[in-house]
Amino acid sequence: MLEVSGLHAGYGAIPVLHGISLAIAEGESVGILGHNGMGKSTLLRTLIGALRASAGVVRLAGADITRTEPHQRAKLGMAYVPQGREIFPTLSAMDNLRMGLVKTGERGSQTLEALLDDFPRLKPLLDRPGGSLSGGEQQLLALARALAGKPTLLLLDEPTEGIQPSIIDEIAETLAALRDRMKLTIVLVEQNLEFIAAVSQRVLVIKRGQLGDEIPREHLGDLAIMSQYTGVHG
Ligand SMILES: Nc1ncnc2c1ncn2[C@@H]1O[C@H](COP(=O)(O)OP(=O)(O)O)[C@@H](O)[C@H]1O
Ligand SMILES: [Mg+2]
Repeated sequence: MLEVSGLHAGYGAIPVLHGISLAIAEGESVGILGHNGMGKSTLLRTLIGALRASAGVVRLAGADITRTEPHQRAKLGMAYVPQGREIFPTLSAMDNLRMGLVKTGERGSQTLEALLDDFPRLKPLLDRPGGSLSGGEQQLLALARALAGKPTLLLLDEPTEGIQPSIIDEIAETLAALRDRMKLTIVLVEQNLEFIAAVSQRVLVIKRGQLGDEIPREHLGDLAIMSQYTGVHG
């Protein structure tokens, strides 16, 4: 589904990603765990095309998309929830959701109604301005917005950042259910060990713009061992 080889990217003359390679199968959910500043957001920005790769190749379902514009990648089935969520604060929650349809050209209220069944907490909030929702509610809204266009590949940047534990669990359950039912492929970058273990089938560690160890499957969920791989706690 997604194949990345030798990916380099950065900001101006400053290199950040130093040859990232990974392959993700259809329906697989892969977590990338790393400290602040290790290049997690830069990786996702490069995968979605918001940032240009200086070298390397990104393939989606076999097609080279390395030079493809972000809106084209959206049409090809890629969706992205940026760090900090980027909800439009003055638009209603419903209009925020509709923005997710605009991107991919999908139409029809049926889609949103069916989608909202997976997000019961959002239903009573749809008329409220996006900015009046709590952080966790905004994250659920950002997730629903990303799913509105029925993507096949979902990129998630630290969805637990600044969010209450009760809603973190709800987001993990929602994601796991959607992954299983929609055969969604997920790339999740995170610092939260429990969340990444709950959502991911495989977890890789990113250090200074390079992918290092894959945490062995039998250690996923063992927070003490996972934190030894990364030095990330919590
Ligand atoms: N817009 C930017 N301009 C210049 N440097 C940046 C920019 N965004 C991030 N960086 C730098 O790139 C490195 C990786 O950042 P980032 O990908 O945001 O890490 P993470 O998401 O893992 O916290 C850091 O050294 C950061 O300071
Ligand atoms: Mg980041």
